[in-house]
Amino acid sequence: MKLIVLFGVLVLAIVANAGVSMNNPFFCYTTDPIRSMTNMHSTSTSYEAIRRFNFTTVNPYISTCTPSRFWYLGRYGGRYPHAALMQQMIDFDESSIQEDIENNYNAGRTTLCRPDFEAIRDWTRGSDFNLANASLATPAGVEAMENIAGRFQRVFPDLLTSTYSADRFLFRHTESERTNTSIRAFATGLFGAGAQNVVYEEVPEVDWFLRPFDFCPEFTREVENWDDQREAFRQGPEVEEMVEEVNRKLGFQGRNTLDFDTIYIMWEWCRFETASTFEFSDSETGEDSTWCAPFSVAHHLLLEYYEDLGHFYFSGYGVRNQRLLENLNCGPMQNLLELVQSDDDIDVARIFVSYTQEVQSMLVALGSFRDTWPLHQHNYAQQAARHWLTSLIAPQASNLAVVRFDCDDEDDDLIFLLNERPILVPGCDQQTGVCKVSTFVDRFRRFVDANCEEFFCSTD
Ligand SMILES: *[C@@H]1O[C@H](CO)[C@@H](O)[C@H](O)[C@H]1NC(C)=O
Ligand SMILES: *[C@@H]1O[C@H](CO)[C@@H](O)[C@H](O)[C@H]1NC(C)=O
Ligand SMILES: *[C@@H]1O[C@H](CO)[C@@H](O)[C@H](O)[C@H]1NC(C)=O
Repeated sequence: MKLIVLFGVLVLAIVANAGVSMNNPFFCYTTDPIRSMTNMHSTSTSYEAIRRFNFTTVNPYISTCTPSRFWYLGRYGGRYPHAALMQQMIDFDESSIQEDIENNYNAGRTTLCRPDFEAIRDWTRGSDFNLANASLATPAGVEAMENIAGRFQRVFPDLLTSTYSADRFLFRHTESERTNTSIRAFATGLFGAGAQNVVYEEVPEVDWFLRPFDFCPEFTREVENWDDQREAFRQGPEVEEMVEEVNRKLGFQGRNTLDFDTIYIMWEWCRFETASTFEFSDSETGEDSTWCAPFSVAHHLLLEYYEDLGHFYFSGYGVRNQRLLENLNCGPMQNLLELVQSDDDIDVARIFVSYTQEVQSMLVALGSFRDTWPLHQHNYAQQAARHWLTSLIAPQASNLAVVRFDCDDEDDDLIFLLNERPILVPGCDQQTGVCKVSTFVDRFRRFVDANCEEFFCSTD
């Protein structure tokens, strides 16, 4: 009787814990057939993980009219971490962490399943993970870009022809090597070997068009405190509980306890290895990424929220001066407005590759993915179903594509696709997502004749 009661208490304790924080301390990553955490890695989420999960394909018959213009603003494909983070990840690899976990496991202190323990014990970092590759596009990032282009071409073959012509296509990227590599991959996805003839626009030194964030001091001042909410959340009870749980799972206690920063680096490894292999994997759940093992699904969700808070206050609806954030997009917005109204056959397909802030702030300008309440340090639970979920809206290679369809009645259709999926833009049809060109132009008329070089950093 006593034993049963004891057992009952133990089970209850586990169930209660699961109920409160959804944290199962016995979660086994290696044998998990679902791996929903691959979709929870914020801006480092693999594009393919999101797409494959939802079987995304663009429906070309969303409008009954004829596709005639294509406008694409995307982020580069996946990249290696920047040098500072990369160094921390290398230091983590070169620390005693694996031996320490092995000792903990052998002493019976961990709740790791055997396959997860073995994966951690045997883990080695890839030889491509070295400082010379910092910030560069990964092979998976290149693959993602090629595939995106190929799919768009299959949906709109007459618009995105497989033969390149400099009159028809415009390609523009930023100063960084990763956007350069990424846009070339996109061109390869369209033209195959013919991509070597593609002419890319000059990259100006002051590129306020594709990276306005870097050239507007007013904006930099505006978001000075972007990290406050994220940091407050990090110091709050949910993250504290996660740190305790991860330590317990790995068997660390007392003065050996891992701090948040070390656990975060572990998570960086988890999301980097997930995203840098997923594009090449035939499995719906991707390849193994060892350092995901210490985390329960609940932990991934917490870290995802931590990331979302940062983006929300840096390039999302948390930026107090929304007008300034919207106007930063003057260049791309004006370019888009011009394209959707144009009748000549020059540059009918325009491809821009830039950074995540640019794509996120375009969504803000359009008014998409806005939540009723702001995200902040105290409402994690309330925000469980939030629209501002960067893993879905801003993964690696995320992209906003706008297609014009020519209709007989003069007022043409527009569809807005985010990551190959129609999105709802206020003012457009809230069922189908189809928008009328006139509605769109009316709403953004202030950009049509603006002098963007000045307007982009103003609140007019
Ligand atoms: C999957 O599709 C549904 C329905 O269109 C959408 O609401 C949801 O956000 C999508 N999920 C992902 C992971 O893209
Ligand atoms: C990264 O480093 C490895 C080994 O030094 C190299 O083979 C690889 O091509 C590099 N570059 C990229 C972009 O992966
Ligand atoms: C982009 O990459 C190509 C090929 O590596 C190189 O020739 C070109 O100079 C690069 N362009 C810029 C603007 O850096």
